[in-house]
Amino acid sequence: MTPVKTAILPVAGFGTRVLPATKSIPKEMLPIVDRPAIQYVVDEALDAGIEHICFVTGRNKGAIEDYFDSAYELEEALERKKKTEILEMLRKMKLPASASTFTRQQSALGLGHAVWCAKAVSKGEPVAVLLPDVIIKSEKSCLAQMIEAYDEVGGNIIAVDAVPEADVSKYGVISPVKRDGKLIEMDGMVEKPAVADAPSNLKITGRYILQPEIFDLLEDQGPGAGNEIQLTDAMERLMRTQQFYAFEYEGQDYDCGSIPGYFEAVFAHAADHPDTAELVKKLAASVL
Ligand code: G1P
Repeated sequence: MTPVKTAILPVAGFGTRVLPATKSIPKEMLPIVDRPAIQYVVDEALDAGIEHICFVTGRNKGAIEDYFDSAYELEEALERKKKTEILEMLRKMKLPASASTFTRQQSALGLGHAVWCAKAVSKGEPVAVLLPDVIIKSEKSCLAQMIEAYDEVGGNIIAVDAVPEADVSKYGVISPVKRDGKLIEMDGMVEKPAVADAPSNLKITGRYILQPEIFDLLEDQGPGAGNEIQLTDAMERLMRTQQFYAFEYEGQDYDCGSIPGYFEAVFAHAADHPDTAELVKKLAASVL
């Protein structure tokens, strides 16, 4: 079984649901306590053993590239001031040149098209896709849980979790057939169905392990929901010819592409951070 070494992070979206905050900063750079949202997703990928990250960017996303690069003047100033601890932390967060690629999605044609833009970087091997709007808080990282399952069964695996029925139309939704522990066999999936047409309330969370054939399917995938090239539609086709599982991971996801989801993510992470944990308890008690 070919190991998953490359992760694709599509970061080209405008972040319209969190305007005006995202007018001049990429939504992925909004801070969750002390670090930008994108750092949590990169950490999740690295923690799962990913060796190379391909960011699919767009216009006005340069801040992401700068963030993972060296900051020579800053590092030199910290060195002069003997701020060794901060310096070490910054150096650890850098992505070595060999471990990252930045490629542009030149037209906003949809998530499926964004993933396709990373085809050359995937080198014909299976890939992980992590949607950086979604931050998942868990003991073992969600992707690490999925790779553990992949090492046993192979094929394609997507993370899913249950949402209230009224919310299904915001997501990709699977049609489950049979469960085996955390793995679910499916006979279909649909992007943003009407509530009445949804095959279940299991949404596609935003973590995927996909075999390289997905790129050929994306190549000729026509537009679907929202008139965009949808990853879900190409996966639905891939499912017809390859083993494909949904996976119920352990953890809590936060949709940082929306104001309530972003606020929840900040709150949940602040409750765990040594500098803010006590403050969160105090504030919660005073508000409630
Ligand atoms: C994307 C995917 C969808 C998935 C969702 C998770 O939708 O197309 O299948 O359920 O992410 O957040 P988007 O949020 O980009 O509309």
